[in-house]
Amino acid sequence: MHLQWIQRYNLLIFDEVDSTNLESKRLALGGAEGNFVIWAKHQTHGKGRYGKTWESLSDNLYLSILLDASTFIQQQTELSFVTALAIYNVVKVKALSHEHKYNIALKWPNDVMVNSSKIAGILLESVKVGAIHHLIIGIGLNVHNHPNDLGRLTTSMSMINNECYDLGEILDLTISSFEYYYTLWRKKGFSYIRKLWLQKIYNPHETMMVSDGHNRISGVFKDIDLNGAIRLQLASGQIYTLSTGEVFICS
Ligand code: BTN
Repeated sequence: MHLQWIQRYNLLIFDEVDSTNLESKRLALGGAEGNFVIWAKHQTHGKGRYGKTWESLSDNLYLSILLDASTFIQQQTELSFVTALAIYNVVKVKALSHEHKYNIALKWPNDVMVNSSKIAGILLESVKVGAIHHLIIGIGLNVHNHPNDLGRLTTSMSMINNECYDLGEILDLTISSFEYYYTLWRKKGFSYIRKLWLQKIYNPHETMMVSDGHNRISGVFKDIDLNGAIRLQLASGQIYTLSTGEVFICS
């Protein structure tokens, strides 16, 4: 591991926690200041989006990045796109460099997909303690194993190329990549990240179904707007914009 980022983050390593996001929240509530990377080998209560469970099988990567987001509270959701680009880079460099039959893509709002199967997920949470707004970026990357019972296709890096990985190296590359895109975001803003993200989009210009938690709406993917909301063109020709939700079906 090179760990060049270690000067800017406190690294905490656990054999087992309930959830690295929950551990980050406890740290923040306990008055921790500065940036942290919390890495756990095992999670007993891994959390996914929408209150779902993130099944935490052995030998995968489970980590959270805890940042002081006080200077960018309004923009904090943009970091899910920053993080998705970082994970895309990790999977591409470590698992796909010689594998031309695999297609890696980003799916709104923050999934990383390989050949239509989910390989990683990101869960953003925030907690305010006194005057400090902490942002927690939880990352689950299927390195050696993938769950079978999500009702969705999933895959892992090992599934792609039969390799065994050093999780420490994958952690190192993940945080280095995150730092790269985070720095780009700070220097050039979300419009730049948005362009990079759109170049890696899953099923561009195809019909898809999105859900806002209550209704499902079908339309053709147009793009994401300058706030990261997805824009679909409906059959009526109208543009439908959704800022938080889930893409269900792509055809
Ligand atoms: C999703 O539903 O796609 C988001 C999954 C995020 C899972 C990661 S694993 C590390 C961190 N700790 C958690 O409890 N969840 C996130």
